Amino acid sequence: MTTIRLSDGIVKDDVLVVGLSQKSSRGSLVIESGDLALETKSLLQTLGDLGATGKADEVIKVPGTSTRLIVFTGLGKNATTYDNEVLRRAAGAAARALAGNSSATFSLPAKNKEAIRAIGEGAALGSYAFSSFKGSTKGDQKTPLKTITIHTSLAAVAEVKQEAKSAEIIAQYTSLVRDLINTPPSHLTPESFCSAISDAVKKAGGAAAGLKVSVMNESQLKSKGYGGITAVGQGSVNPPRLVNISYTPKNVKSSKKYAFVGKGITFDTGGLALKPALGMEAMKSDMSGAAAVCAATIAIALLKLPVAIEAWAPLAENMVSDTATRPSDVITMYGGKTIEVLNPDAEGRLVLGDALVKAQEEDGLDGIIDVATLTGAQVVALGTRTSAVMTNNEEFSSQFLKLAARTGEAFWPMPLPIELRASLDSPVADMANIGERMGGMLVAGLFLKEFISDDLPWLHLDIAGPAYNEGQPHGYTPVGGTGIALRTLVALAEFA
Ligand code: BES
Ligand code: MN
Ligand code: ZN
Repeated sequence: MTTIRLSDGIVKDDVLVVGLSQKSSRGSLVIESGDLALETKSLLQTLGDLGATGKADEVIKVPGTSTRLIVFTGLGKNATTYDNEVLRRAAGAAARALAGNSSATFSLPAKNKEAIRAIGEGAALGSYAFSSFKGSTKGDQKTPLKTITIHTSLAAVAEVKQEAKSAEIIAQYTSLVRDLINTPPSHLTPESFCSAISDAVKKAGGAAAGLKVSVMNESQLKSKGYGGITAVGQGSVNPPRLVNISYTPKNVKSSKKYAFVGKGITFDTGGLALKPALGMEAMKSDMSGAAAVCAATIAIALLKLPVAIEAWAPLAENMVSDTATRPSDVITMYGGKTIEVLNPDAEGRLVLGDALVKAQEEDGLDGIIDVATLTGAQVVALGTRTSAVMTNNEEFSSQFLKLAARTGEAFWPMPLPIELRASLDSPVADMANIGERMGGMLVAGLFLKEFISDDLPWLHLDIAGPAYNEGQPHGYTPVGGTGIALRTLVALAEFA
């Protein structure tokens, strides 16, 4: 875990991180060291000699005078006020480049508490490494920054201290999401996911923090009629689970109550519709939605936010075996709808359908949000860094999109065109689990919509691309699990 401190005194760390931007006119560089005065003349000379550009994701380390090292992190185009996401990414890129150091002071242009929070989040999120499975080579790994000091003249302001604490919690629970995603399916099964979540809840204070966990095992799921979760899990020796975390705010009346539902496929082989070997390893990330909703709920509790949350994670391993669901099998979902499983690789919607119905048994919900690595079509439509939002309530969606813009998570609205719905009709059951191939992300959304009561505001977040970074690290985003959706889910409880 990374600790965030605030300071307005002299820099005590060996490493100082400052910003570098570029004046658009002549391409000249501007050192942006926030509230810290720096002698810039010779530094600018050196940066010029090194060919620095100040572009985003550029990190340049030079020997310092008052600190051992000065690290310049790119802010892009010079501005009077920098966008918080620019600061978040710049802090993250620097933190990643500083693995191997134990601490650093960040002095970046931040004018208010939100900007300081963004710097804290970026620096702490960039200080992430997954090394649980490094054995003999662990010693070669550079350990991430442990202590981050943000230099600011606002260091003594109580609200600013609170923001630093919030940034720390956000980073800590984003790390939990990333760890769960990065943990290989040999070590992360539906059962061990539940243990990990129970442990995390205990560590967060459990009942004292207003948190409660309950888990349904396979025989309970079977006897209570969770046909979607059991059908997807029946091909695996690692049986399915349904975990529920509930958070009830302590000593305050909650203003709102939301249900979160996250797709928790601990590994998706495609089942009998077996996926090609090339790239299948990325399907260990198919539980990203489940990890995000669970960790977000714990973070919301630790932030003591006055919003009640019921989080549900249907967990299963989608495997190939003689007990796996066959194409053409008909299953009965929780709540009674029958589904013809034409493609066992469209399994996410099956586990989610059950959990969405269960989640709506709760009285007094103000909204329900599902989070899922649901379709390859999402990645085709929006790429690997932008997630999709589908909804039955434009107001809820636009509120969410505003919050996402604020947290720096890229989400984009997508439609649920009614004319695609008929493609899900089945000649033998209430519905088939696949429909028209074109617009596959929207068809999946329409499938889920069938499990939502019309008058409950609902958001479906398809995070298939952004959940797992198979490319280069960038900003505060490492390779592997990213933790996407957590920040906006928390923001919903924080600012709604
Ligand atoms: N988990 C996959 C979706 C996915 C693809 C997530 C790529 C992340 C990256 C999902 O279960 C799946 O296999 N979806 C199918 C649905 C199809 C059979 C209708 C897909 O998108 O191909
Ligand atoms: Mn699948
Ligand atoms: Zn899947």
